Amino acid sequence: MALVPTMGALHAGHLSLIEAGRQLADHVIVTIYVNPTQFGPKEDFSKYPRPLSDDLAMCEKAGATGVFHPSSEEVYPPHVVESSLVIPSLDGVLEGAFRPGHFAGVCRVVAKLFNMTQPDVACFGRKDYQQLKVIEAMTGDLAMPIRIVGCPTLRDPDGMAMSSRNRYLTPDMRKRSLGLFKALSEARAMVEERGELDPSAVEAAMMMVLTSHKLDVQYAALRHPQTLAKIDVIEPKLTGGVVALIAAKVDEVRLIDNMVMGE
Ligand code: PAJ
Repeated sequence: MALVPTMGALHAGHLSLIEAGRQLADHVIVTIYVNPTQFGPKEDFSKYPRPLSDDLAMCEKAGATGVFHPSSEEVYPPHVVESSLVIPSLDGVLEGAFRPGHFAGVCRVVAKLFNMTQPDVACFGRKDYQQLKVIEAMTGDLAMPIRIVGCPTLRDPDGMAMSSRNRYLTPDMRKRSLGLFKALSEARAMVEERGELDPSAVEAAMMMVLTSHKLDVQYAALRHPQTLAKIDVIEPKLTGGVVALIAAKVDEVRLIDNMVMGE
């Protein structure tokens, strides 16, 4: 069985994970659960979209075998003592630095969902690149008998990465948000076409594109594609590519995107 963990508000990106699951297993189970422990106190947990009946119809149409939509009492039974799962090398950087406790919350819920559903394989999007690396680390180090498959980011025709949070964007905000994809495309051109060697030159170029779109940048970084460690020189052949990762706010909406280049 293939598992596709989600928080609902499904879009074509989620459906592509269901399709990937169908290629890998006879049955695909989608989980829909907005996990409170991965949201910070000032984040959008309470206003996160929850269009359950649309989501169920989309899962059925996409050929999922079933949906697991647990209640918070099932996932976090009140009398069970809390545990914590942390991947130290990935926890405090990039997303982890801006969202303290986020990945601990993700690991805890994903481990619970794995144990509750017992999948053979689980599909995650590269859209949340650091999350994918965290889940790979968790399953690898704890010898969880589950194959983790990373799937490509689905984008709108203009390049904007699909996201449940795109629903919050007005047309003007949507236009400015395209700066993330444009910055990543500029980074890719520098690395792949112009052979740029200096990561800080690429980071500076991404920053220029982002600020010209009036985005409030939290990070725009070029990193090792597996460890997310800083790199001194861009040597894609040695590191198996490099990954550019961005988090930026358009007004109050926080968006992330990334691109692996030079693979
Ligand atoms: P959610 O944001 O709903 O995403 C569910 C899955 O869909 C994740 O693996 C994510 O990377 C993938 N995804 C999102 N947008 C995508 C896109 N444009 N193209 C391809 N895949 C995309 O990520 C979570 O939920 C939660 O953290 C979760 C893992 C469910 C734990 O609560």
